[in-house]
Amino acid sequence: MGVRLGARDVSRAFGPVRANEGVSVEVRAGTVHAVVGENGAGKTTLMRILYGLDQPDSGTVVVNDRPIRLRGPADGIEHGIGLVPQELAMIGSLTLLENLVLGTEPKRGLRIDWTVARSEAEELASRVGVELPWTALADNVSISVRQQVEILRALRHGADVLILDEPTAALAPAQVDDLLQLLRGLREAGRTVVFISHKVDEVLAVADEITVLRGGKVITTRPVDELDRSSLIELIVGQHVRFSGFVSSAVIADEVLTVAGDVSLSVRAGEIVGVAGIAGSGQDELVERIVGLRPSSGRITLAGKDITSLPVDRRRAAGLGYISGDRRSEGLSMDASLADNTIAGTHRTLGRYGWLRPSAVRAYAKRVLDGYSVRYGRTSAAARTLSGGNQQRVVIGRELDRNPALLVAAGPTRGVDVLGMAYIHDKLRALRDNGSAVLLVSEQLDELLDLSDRIIVLHGGQVAGEVPGGPESRNAVGALMLGRKDS
Ligand SMILES: Nc1ncnc2c1ncn2[C@@H]1O[C@H](COP(=O)(O)OP(=O)(O)O)[C@@H](O)[C@H]1O
Ligand SMILES: [Mg+2]
Repeated sequence: MGVRLGARDVSRAFGPVRANEGVSVEVRAGTVHAVVGENGAGKTTLMRILYGLDQPDSGTVVVNDRPIRLRGPADGIEHGIGLVPQELAMIGSLTLLENLVLGTEPKRGLRIDWTVARSEAEELASRVGVELPWTALADNVSISVRQQVEILRALRHGADVLILDEPTAALAPAQVDDLLQLLRGLREAGRTVVFISHKVDEVLAVADEITVLRGGKVITTRPVDELDRSSLIELIVGQHVRFSGFVSSAVIADEVLTVAGDVSLSVRAGEIVGVAGIAGSGQDELVERIVGLRPSSGRITLAGKDITSLPVDRRRAAGLGYISGDRRSEGLSMDASLADNTIAGTHRTLGRYGWLRPSAVRAYAKRVLDGYSVRYGRTSAAARTLSGGNQQRVVIGRELDRNPALLVAAGPTRGVDVLGMAYIHDKLRALRDNGSAVLLVSEQLDELLDLSDRIIVLHGGQVAGEVPGGPESRNAVGALMLGRKDS
């Protein structure tokens, strides 16, 4: 099998950042080739170069075994290369069929022949094994369906190599399965797929070969059967990472949090309760009601005390801790020093009469930052100078050090690298084992399954169901996320 698409010794820098350095990849015709790596590893840069959207500083793109210069996407398309971008570009007020044929409408005389358009669409779809509601407006279908139309659109434009850049990022688990099935269908139909992801399980499920990028360089390319979950994670991260997997709580005691209203739930001491749901199913509202950022109609109690109408600071005083994946808006003040960020919400305990001794603040900050393995220079440095993973450790250190009766963790590992994720998981479990109640809201199903003692699934702003934690619940949670009772 020849090299359908590849890179030979490609380098591309942005100022001081070497996004790609001496990258060589060979994607063989008729295969699914995954490119994996952490955020910032250089995946998107490489894909843009392979499609002609960007040019390498040195090195060359290879098409059908020959070095080629792609001056723009038009050159990419001419060589049969299609890119399905992360941000889909469809027109919401048009039907799926109209979007599919936009610019390539079959005509009879001067008029569009919709009968022919429809049969062409169905023929294309059946070749890769999908069925689509062609007369639905793009605005009224899921991201997953729009993505399928984008893929067919690329095929219609003559692409036989499809590059998909992190296509599963916004999908629910069942939708991910559908997409992986579609990718297999493309391979069966003789197409070539370049699949970008940082999710290990997905690439192991679908790829023939896997190229690992780290820090802009190719670490290795291997056939999928030479890799498993832990060896692949190790290659991506560059060191051994230990995820403990699911360990249920040993001791569950009294109710710490109760919430009544559209969504009713409770969390007991020594328990991690996960909240799952596709984006926008009511998770944000729930979290904001509990932490006091949004008024609540129903009643909320914390350690037996009615906190329904208490302001944020009094909820904190009553034992509430809060970690948000949105560090910029809720977790950290980016321009303030690490010391100030670390003591935020805690300063009352550090100085009497509202006067803080700088040395005490520094010592306190240092103890928390060191205790939570934050990599920093001085406690006076601004929070924005740290990497995302280290910023998250500051928030976690600050919130966990107070030993809260209840911790609300909303997307605690969003944007955090694999090592940081394993670290945060260990800390959340330790907090639980120490007798705190933890409410964990996450978009990542694996995280919820691994950490939660039980999982509450939201759908359309309501509780769709509850299942125990652990890997066996994957299908049940996935079905409930889509509002289905079965799996
Ligand atoms: N247009 C750009 N300008 C400046 N830096 C960029 C640009 N594109 C990418 N980078 C940098 O190059 C590195 C690799 O980025 P990218 O290819 O997007 O990685 P990935 O897709 O693997 O997350 C990152 O450090 C990123 O910040
Ligand atoms: Mg990217």
